[in-house]
Amino acid sequence: MKKLKLKNGNTMIIRKANKFDAKAILEYIDTVSGESVFLTFGQGEFDKTIEQEENFIDNISKKDNALFIIAEVDGKIVGNLNFSGGARPRIAHTGEFGISVLKEYWGQSIGTELIKYLIEWCKQSGVIRKINLRVRSDNYSAIHVYEKLGFSKEGIITRDFLINGRFYDSICMGLNID
Ligand SMILES: CC(C)(COP(=O)(O)OP(=O)(O)OC[C@H]1O[C@@H](n2cnc3c(N)ncnc32)[C@H](O)[C@@H]1OP(=O)(O)O)[C@@H](O)C(=O)NCCC(=O)NCCS
Repeated sequence: MKKLKLKNGNTMIIRKANKFDAKAILEYIDTVSGESVFLTFGQGEFDKTIEQEENFIDNISKKDNALFIIAEVDGKIVGNLNFSGGARPRIAHTGEFGISVLKEYWGQSIGTELIKYLIEWCKQSGVIRKINLRVRSDNYSAIHVYEKLGFSKEGIITRDFLINGRFYDSICMGLNID
């Protein structure tokens, strides 16, 4: 667990999710899915049951190459980050993550701190040697955060999103863990 002061003076806690968080996480995801066009799902499209979410969190906590963390302010989930490494030995050292923060909390370093936590955790994991991510090419604030934390652009995936009849490219970015 990590305790930090936000720019506005609020205290934020970053901690690993556990299965008792499942319901609150699903409620959180339902909210953020309606707030951002940059996620891989829109409102109502993340249709997991509480039980499925509990199992998902449980499975992650059993792995040495996966991490699911949440950021909380006053006991409320305001951000999350989910990283998963490969399932087979040749790809177990590398994984991809997704991240989101509640819109009313954007710009207070919560995203930056969640990724810093991931990087530290990867360094200590003894397993992870590379962090990958995919970001929509017009998601400038996210790209800014990733570059600030040392991620480099590695390639472009064209037509990665199709939203309301329009294609969007993604940029692949990566950070080596040495
Ligand atoms: C991307 C996201 C996680 C960032 O979280 P956050 O808590 O707002 O991030 P931070 O406050 O740590 O940093 C935001 C940075 O973006 C910068 N920024 C804001 N708007 C920007 C813009 N239009 N262009 C470039 N940078 C911008 C801010 O100045 C800040 O940088 P700084 O710390 O150097 O000043 C959050 O905006 C989010 O949840 N977005 C919707 C979901 C999403 O896009 N997820 C990523 C999918 S790959």
